[in-house]
Amino acid sequence: MLTYRSKILAVLNQKGGVGKTTVASVIAEYAAIVANKNVLVVDLDMQCNSSDYWVGMESAPQATGGQLPPLHPDYDGDPDLDSRSNIADIFFGKAVLPHPTYIQAENGFKHTVEIMVGHPALLERINSEYDNSSGKIAALIIDRLGDFLHMDDIAKTYDLIILDTGPSRNPIFRSAVRAANYAIIPFEPEEKSLQGINAMLQVIQSENFSRGDDTQLNLIGLCPNKVRSNTNIHRSTLEMLHQELGGIMFPAEVYLPQSTAFPERDLKGISPRSIFQISAQHVARKQSASVGSYVMNYIFNK
Ligand SMILES: Nc1ncnc2c1ncn2[C@@H]1O[C@H](COP(=O)(O)OP(=O)(O)OP(=O)(O)O)[C@@H](O)[C@H]1O
Ligand SMILES: [Mg+2]
Repeated sequence: MLTYRSKILAVLNQKGGVGKTTVASVIAEYAAIVANKNVLVVDLDMQCNSSDYWVGMESAPQATGGQLPPLHPDYDGDPDLDSRSNIADIFFGKAVLPHPTYIQAENGFKHTVEIMVGHPALLERINSEYDNSSGKIAALIIDRLGDFLHMDDIAKTYDLIILDTGPSRNPIFRSAVRAANYAIIPFEPEEKSLQGINAMLQVIQSENFSRGDDTQLNLIGLCPNKVRSNTNIHRSTLEMLHQELGGIMFPAEVYLPQSTAFPERDLKGISPRSIFQISAQHVARKQSASVGSYVMNYIFNK
């Protein structure tokens, strides 16, 4: 049985491109820059978009997925660690060295964001090797991430751990659901998004059947993303969802708008890097703060 010591937020939606990685990074930045938390991001997606955003993946045309995690700046030859230390290592019995990001003391920040990066080939190997295994082996793999992230040391080092997950329900995704005690589901306000939402609600419900009352996976809510509030289709879809789903929807004013300010952060070498360093009047920054503050309030003040 897992002992839940850390605060772990999983960002979930099996539909691709809805904003999981974007929402994960906005919340990490808000938590560290605005809410004074030390944050760990964990990239559990074989595409490794979070790793690329925070520390840059290394292009490797020969490797599966075409990318390798970067060499760790502090790697000193320790045989228990990998020189390209990454989260897949824990599934092979190794420890993981988190990478520092630009949000660190050296750059004038009081609190930090660190990341345990992904590894396309190794994450894919774990997913395909354990996809059809059942019983004991499956349970072992599914619990491994939680066993690691809820260790005393990790719980003491980080105020918040954010799991970015990929768009499929593979063993790594299941291990993220098992490890988390909070979940958020970003989605785009379109009719067809309901399918993905319902699938995620079922995943959370069935996970909670297997947990005790004091260790439930708490759904913070559904976070609308890429919202164009001046369009009828978005306005009416959101209204319909509020009526149908009620309290599990984020409040009406808490959402991320469609804005180029989000994809612009992906450009290498761009400055400022964080959405919380652009103009305070910018709607993307204001709405990011509203999402960040809603999530912080749920996790730390409830
Ligand atoms: N609010 C937004 N406004 C404009 N573009 C956005 C917004 N949110 C996300 N995007 C862009 O949409 C694309 C998909 O977003 P993102 O990568 O966050 O989705 P995802 O759910 O993580 O995707 P995947 O399932 O592939 O991991 C990215 O190019 C991102 O920059
Ligand atoms: Mg993503």
